[in-house]
Amino acid sequence: MCLLQLLVSLVSSYRYEGEEVNMTLAKQEAKLIHEKIKDKHYNDEDFIRILSTRSKAQINATFNRYQDNHGEEILKSLEEGDEDDKFLGLLRSTIQCLTRPELYFVDVLRSAINKTGTDEGALTRIVTTRAEIDLKVIGQEYQRRNSIPLEKAITKDTRGDYEKMLIALLGEDDA
Ligand SMILES: *[C@@H]1O[C@H](CO)[C@@H](O)[C@H](O)[C@H]1NC(C)=O
Ligand SMILES: *[C@@H]1O[C@H](CO)[C@@H](O)[C@H](O)[C@H]1NC(C)=O
Ligand SMILES: *[C@@H]1O[C@H](CO)[C@@H](O)[C@H](O)[C@H]1NC(C)=O
Repeated sequence: MCLLQLLVSLVSSYRYEGEEVNMTLAKQEAKLIHEKIKDKHYNDEDFIRILSTRSKAQINATFNRYQDNHGEEILKSLEEGDEDDKFLGLLRSTIQCLTRPELYFVDVLRSAINKTGTDEGALTRIVTTRAEIDLKVIGQEYQRRNSIPLEKAITKDTRGDYEKMLIALLGEDDA
């Protein structure tokens, strides 16, 4: 689980995790979110309430609606904000965690592998915890964004039994 996802679920009083979606609500909340983003009110109570209490299916519907209405993904809109706004960064990671967790893991993997000396803790944690969940999707996304297969990036930076273990876990997802 991503740290931010954990944070969001901790602050949520109740999150209904069903598949049902209320389209009227999605439309209303997409509009509200657009207004907050336009005014740069990232730290807005209603915005946070939506992220922390709506089900993932409902949030997905709201963000799809947002994209249909405004011609760009919400994450793209948030990229245009002030880089120094800490809350904006947190918001982006949270939304990424909720909607495309694999993108979040690709970012963490990339900085773990790219670090001088490699952040073995982060690398191990992601590969072992996502192995049977979405490591394959993470690997595909990694290659798409970094133009190098995840397996190759790992073998370049690791050695011995540790390398073998990671590669075995990567392969397992194919089975
Ligand atoms: C959907 O959301 C709208 C707006 O909040 C609400 O008025 C309506 O009762 C909801 N519909 C259902 C079926 O929950
Ligand atoms: C989000 O919405 C898109 C477009 O309708 C759909 O393809 C995707 O499966 C949805 N994802 C989730 C997690 O509901
Ligand atoms: C790795 O780090 C260097 C220097 O910090 C940076 O220029 C490069 O783009 C990074 N590579 C990836 C794949 O992130």
